[in-house]
Amino acid sequence: MSIPRRSLLATASAGIALALSPLPGGRTSVRAQPLGDARRAWTAATEARRNPDPRLRALAFAILAPNPHNLQPWLVELTATNEMTVFCDLARRLPATDPFDRQITIGLGAFLELLRMAAAENGFAVRTETFPDGTPGRRLDARPIALLHFDPVAGMVGDPLFRHVLARRTNRALYDMSRLPEPNTLATLTSAAVPGAHVGTTTAPELTAALRDHVWRAFRTEALTHEPHMESVNVMRMGRAAVIANPDGISLDAAELEPLVAQGILTHAAMASRDSPVFRQFLALYEAPVLATPAFLWLVTPDNSRAEQLRAGADWLRLNLQAAGLGLGLHPQSATLQEYPEMDGLLRDVHDLLDIHRGRIQMLARLGYASPVPPSPRWAADTRIKH
Ligand SMILES: Cc1cc2nc3c(=O)[nH]c(=O)nc-3n(C[C@H](O)[C@H](O)[C@H](O)COP(=O)(O)O)c2cc1C
Repeated sequence: MSIPRRSLLATASAGIALALSPLPGGRTSVRAQPLGDARRAWTAATEARRNPDPRLRALAFAILAPNPHNLQPWLVELTATNEMTVFCDLARRLPATDPFDRQITIGLGAFLELLRMAAAENGFAVRTETFPDGTPGRRLDARPIALLHFDPVAGMVGDPLFRHVLARRTNRALYDMSRLPEPNTLATLTSAAVPGAHVGTTTAPELTAALRDHVWRAFRTEALTHEPHMESVNVMRMGRAAVIANPDGISLDAAELEPLVAQGILTHAAMASRDSPVFRQFLALYEAPVLATPAFLWLVTPDNSRAEQLRAGADWLRLNLQAAGLGLGLHPQSATLQEYPEMDGLLRDVHDLLDIHRGRIQMLARLGYASPVPPSPRWAADTRIKH
């Protein structure tokens, strides 16, 4: 039986909201649904503890790292015994929104840090040589990102942050505007970054209001700029079957969306057209979580070198794990940090707004308390190994 178009469009709001900026449980009728094997990596990681190869035990956790658009740009090669080489899967980049592979490198940094933590849990120290064949220039290339040596260490002590690995999420929900993170909570959160990192936070009403306005303008700018918008549209997985077939990208997997997908209303073409009701809904709905942001966090590096981008990735992972432990949500707002001409002014403005005159903001995120959200899809670890 076909469902009337009008009522399908009405459910689109809630459904797309869940997919792109899920609302807290109990405040909406949208429902998450089982995704078959698309979330299996989150349980497979623990099962991999039985694997005799320490590299594979660590890899099973490292693939759970946060990364841009969930493209999972890592590929590894098991080279000599106890050695692993990490590459960027060059097809899994975002050239329109991330033309210099800055964000992809941050994702690879998060992956390396999680791999290091997971190895430590199993009694292995990881000696890391970054860019062993030379540092790439404006874009990443086929040369390795890192060469890793796994050395067994008696009495190795794991990183306390690792205990939050399976609870870590990017949380796109509405945050509770009546509950500001306390100063001591913010201090605990930022202390998770590697010493020396520059992490800023604010709950100040004026600055958070200015940042809310800023990130919303940046999001709109991106959605209305053809190439960057299409880059996101092209990696949207619309409906359960699409997510199961491709457990990466932007998953639109709320149960309410299934009829919209089945009836051909929620399509890539509809998302691509700025005149379609689906696109207008998508734009309008993104504003709600932005407005429901009581605090922001940002991460700054002294320069924008590859080494600093990898370091930012490690810090981003660590901040995420600490946030999970504190029951806080973090949600990156990367549009304003991106390097294409239409965003130039907003990229400069956000540095001015946060008074950053030396250094580069690598991550800017919504921060606050929200209901938990389900884990995001992942490709199985063995699909990320070069054979
Ligand atoms: C460099 C970087 C930039 C990101 N930018 C955004 C963003 O602008 N908006 C967003 O919703 N998520 C953003 N994310 C979060 C990813 O989409 C998220 O990590 C990925 O979908 C996997 O989900 P998970 O973190 O819940 O495992 C970013 C993550 C990284 C590492």
